Amino acid sequence: MSRPTILLTGAGGQVGFELARGLADHGDVIALDRAALDLADADAIVATVRQARPELIVNAGAYTAVDLAESESTLAFAVNARAPGILAEEAKRQDAVLIHYSTDYVFDGRRTTPYEEDAPTGPLNVYGASKCEGECAIEQSNARALVFRTSWVYGARGRNFLLTILRLAQERDELRVVADQSGTPNWCRTLSDATAAAVARGLPWLAERSGLYHMTSAGATTWHGFAQAIVGEVPRPRVVPIAASLYPTPARRPAYGVLSSRKFEATFGYRLPDWRDELAACRSSMLAGSRPID
Ligand SMILES: NC(=O)c1ccc[n+]([C@@H]2O[C@H](COP(=O)([O-])OP(=O)(O)OC[C@H]3O[C@@H](n4cnc5c(N)ncnc54)[C@H](OP(=O)(O)O)[C@@H]3O)[C@@H](O)[C@H]2O)c1
Repeated sequence: MSRPTILLTGAGGQVGFELARGLADHGDVIALDRAALDLADADAIVATVRQARPELIVNAGAYTAVDLAESESTLAFAVNARAPGILAEEAKRQDAVLIHYSTDYVFDGRRTTPYEEDAPTGPLNVYGASKCEGECAIEQSNARALVFRTSWVYGARGRNFLLTILRLAQERDELRVVADQSGTPNWCRTLSDATAAAVARGLPWLAERSGLYHMTSAGATTWHGFAQAIVGEVPRPRVVPIAASLYPTPARRPAYGVLSSRKFEATFGYRLPDWRDELAACRSSMLAGSRPID
């Protein structure tokens, strides 16, 4: 069987960077970062997909600056809503499969038990609204598409909570961290591995399972709990729990964003590990990466 061509967008991002490597076992990956394909440029998306003629499109690109999105909504919607719609239309035109990522921020966070895929959406901020519209655009296209909603992504590179806490821990004796917002941290490599496991089943099998899935590590915590797990048992810095109301941000965030991955795990026969184990694995890989080569 010939290897499928896989077009990957957002290849410079946390998940995209991991996917460029993780999908290489399953096809010939054309990995495009923002410089190679600007998802705000509708014509460029169409031209790129038609030229590459992929059998699988994986859209890891997104406008993820949650607070900035409040003042850059046109750009956020172009990248997070219009671009996925165009990718879905082009996938349909070429009989390709589309994999796209979305977020727990499509929910209003008023629940207290993990969200299933069919729970009503109600985004609280522009980023969440733009991602929500992207999901709808894909659904309306009737393309063969899988949307994986995830949450709290971190890794060894990029802008994320893990790297912020590690930096602040060097600089301060005390960290004040929001303790009344719950969710599940996800190492970008965990998400790439789960995606690759689904792709490994083959594109026809995957296409038959088109739809919306929650894809997160097991377990849940608060930002405070996440920070404490990052800092570990060392006495400094102290990680002090605070209410979100004491840490005002331009974008409102849901108080609860825990997603149930039951459907993903049952469909793809793939269990995502506990977030604490994945944090430990990420830290080990960062340490290994920083060791000098013998
Ligand atoms: N990060 C999270 O906490 C989180 C939570 C839930 C869901 N998700 C979703 O998971 C997926 C992967 O996110 P991630 O964590 O890997 O985010 P990320 O690290 O911010 O990566 C997103 C990538 O998209 C690129 N991008 C932004 N605007 C673009 C444009 N106009 N054209 C092309 N590329 C553009 C960014 O490029 P630059 O680096 O140049 O900006 C970045 O490389 C996204 O769909 C995101 O919405 C993320």
